Amino acid sequence: MNSAFDAQLNKELDALKAAGTYKHLRHLTTPMAPEVHMEEAGDVIVLSSNNYLGLSDQQEVIDAGIEGLKKYGAGTASVRFICGTFDIHRTLEKRIAEFLGTEASLTYVACWNANTGLFATICGEGSGIISDELNHASIIDGVRLASKAKRAVYKHGDMADLEAKLKEMQGLSPVLVVTDGVFSMEGSIAKLPEIVALCKKYNAVSVVDDSHGTGVMGKTGRGTIEHFGLTGQVDIITGTLGKALGGAAGGFVAGSEALIDMLIQRSRPQLFSNALPATVACSSLEAIDYLDKHPQLVDRLRQNIAYFRDGLKRLGFKPLDGPSAIVPIIVGDTAFAISMSDKLLKRGIFVTGFGFPVVPEGTARIRTQLSAKLTKDEMDRALAAFGAVGKEVGLLT
Ligand SMILES: Cc1ncc(COP(=O)(O)O)c(C=O)c1O
Repeated sequence: MNSAFDAQLNKELDALKAAGTYKHLRHLTTPMAPEVHMEEAGDVIVLSSNNYLGLSDQQEVIDAGIEGLKKYGAGTASVRFICGTFDIHRTLEKRIAEFLGTEASLTYVACWNANTGLFATICGEGSGIISDELNHASIIDGVRLASKAKRAVYKHGDMADLEAKLKEMQGLSPVLVVTDGVFSMEGSIAKLPEIVALCKKYNAVSVVDDSHGTGVMGKTGRGTIEHFGLTGQVDIITGTLGKALGGAAGGFVAGSEALIDMLIQRSRPQLFSNALPATVACSSLEAIDYLDKHPQLVDRLRQNIAYFRDGLKRLGFKPLDGPSAIVPIIVGDTAFAISMSDKLLKRGIFVTGFGFPVVPEGTARIRTQLSAKLTKDEMDRALAAFGAVGKEVGLLT
């Protein structure tokens, strides 16, 4: 034990506590669902999960995971290219590709790994990457790992800035343009038609991380690309299995056969880390099938988003606009956001406050996320709590 080192860490932790920005883990004792039991707060309504379609505790999804555990055991005890590939990996990857309209896909244990395993594999010396300034941390870190590529960040959603950066990168190959489909802290969506058009104009490769769009956006829940009618026109899609598609864990890259083959050969999280557990492969596969058989879930989610957003506005809040299932209320100060979420929790509403450094200083927010499985009664109870807490903290009169 190095006690000097621990003392240094404790000093930093104390500073977080003093600033009111220290995060407390909450412990759930029941499956993720619209209502859960929390050790620290009892029965609460969840408005902070990515369980957009409510499939985490869907019986068919659970059963598929159990069958997977029985059939394949706990795991591969190996990375994919040694002896870590089960037939269910191939089945799931074909299904993801078919679902998204790409030639092929490859799973990772998380979308974090997919994003951090993608860019450095395909962007070496003489290549370029242009990234939206509000992209998810996994994209930022993934792009950082591609240290030999020329890298640039364009102002959030600013197509003129993106075009200027594309001009600066002319002569490099490949040049990747990467964006979130749905921006996770804003709930807004990328301007994909313009981005795809610019990529075509400058012969760049489009990359969309649609982790928060899958299951939410588009008529059949295939995501932001479907929403814009661009299926087949985005070169590379990354996404997670840890949100709408069952919520366990897992991520993927989807794209051309050549891209996927190259990732199998060279992507470091593939080469040096275990495969997606077979149980998760089975439950995720069932989640995709379940979504296809129950497209009404997507409609139900959309109705819930509209109902809750309207309810917040009627109370006097001004949630950020956007078509996704993420409905944030900007409150400004980080400690204020955290204390507001604590007050909501005391009233049985589990919703997270986000502040700096997750979002820019001064734009701390309460981020609500809707699920297709929330009932009107649950949303009404949540809105009543928001009304009461809004008045208590002085946001509402
Ligand atoms: C846009 C985006 N990409 C990637 C991830 C990481 O997903 P995973 O939990 O599968 O690592 C997240 C998770 O929050 C995300 O919001």
